[in-house]
Amino acid sequence: RITPVILSGGTGTRLWPLSREAFPKQLLPLAGERSMLQETVLRVADRALFNAPVIIANVEHRFVIAEQLRALGLTDATIVLEPEGRNTTAAAAVAALLEARRDPQGLVLLLAADHVVQDAEALSASVRNSLPAAQAGRFVLFGIQPTSPATGYGYIQRSDTQTEVPGVFSVQRFVEKPDASTAVTYVESGDYLWNSGIFLLPASPFLKELERLAPDVLSAATESLDKAREDLDFIRLDEGSFARSPSIAVDYAVMEKTDLAVVTPTDCGWTDVGSWSALWAIGKQDVSGNVLVGDVVAEDVSGSYLRGEGQLIAALGVEDLVVIATPDVVLVTRKDRDQDVKKLVEILRKDG
Ligand code: GDD
Ligand code: MG
Repeated sequence: RITPVILSGGTGTRLWPLSREAFPKQLLPLAGERSMLQETVLRVADRALFNAPVIIANVEHRFVIAEQLRALGLTDATIVLEPEGRNTTAAAAVAALLEARRDPQGLVLLLAADHVVQDAEALSASVRNSLPAAQAGRFVLFGIQPTSPATGYGYIQRSDTQTEVPGVFSVQRFVEKPDASTAVTYVESGDYLWNSGIFLLPASPFLKELERLAPDVLSAATESLDKAREDLDFIRLDEGSFARSPSIAVDYAVMEKTDLAVVTPTDCGWTDVGSWSALWAIGKQDVSGNVLVGDVVAEDVSGSYLRGEGQLIAALGVEDLVVIATPDVVLVTRKDRDQDVKKLVEILRKDG
């Protein structure tokens, strides 16, 4: 069986002002009734295939997370707490260490907490199909057919030849977050897939590769786990040791560099709910192409995402906008500029 490890430490600044440091997007019910973390937990609930999940998150979110798991009736999850975010390589290192100590042959399914997967069964089937590749020491990436030259993703150039496992292909190249013109050439070429950010990793071989490619991350993660404190239902990583880890995404530190990556293309209705336009795209659009959530009155409006929480939005004669009203902030932007919302957050942070 596979241990699902859910990374829930991001802050999701492109979904500001709903997503805040104290309450990041993965803990919000943005795309349905349940939070995206809860949806992710349910996606890997099949105990014939998966062990109880491990959730790695910031210490500040521990009670919200524990409460959301309780609400699902889940009592056997392990919650690992980071004193501060050191990005996904450090979190992946902790995940692999925990698993390898439990079972040296163990496999980890690393998942982001902020994706929508409409067809969880298809994802499970892809995971099941990829098992022999991971057992043979390969790092399995799950690739998504790209629909636009988005620059916020990793791109996987797959080769035409399958590996010894049918449906699993070798990887020619992995490029994390290419610039816009490069992304256009990738999508036009037809042989690139988006990296879903879901990885099936054999714990021990992954640790070996970390030792080669990110030794400082590995040693900080190892020490922070050795000195960790168990507290209620939480594992608290040691602060001083964890802080020493370089802050780098696993895509840059490992996936771009390793020769062990393979890719399983999967068609599981995957969407990265990274921005308001992504939520618009998967939302219930009315005849004018609007997604209206909460307190909204719209007249002669089209192609827009309007969300009023605690304040009424009244809109007239506009198109392709994102308007998010919260009790203390109103965000207004063109839908095609919503990738830059994080710039606003940076400005506000500086102004303190
Ligand atoms: N525990 C922990 N600690 N989790 C973290 C941290 C951290 O310091 N930083 C990020 N995460 C979590 C996020 O909450 C998210 O669930 C996941 O790790 C991925 O991090 P993101 O910051 O959202 O990455 P990204 O969206 O820029 O890029 C990744 O995902 C894309 C698909 O959504 C990459 O894997 C890309 O290659 C991929 O295309
Ligand atoms: Mg993301």
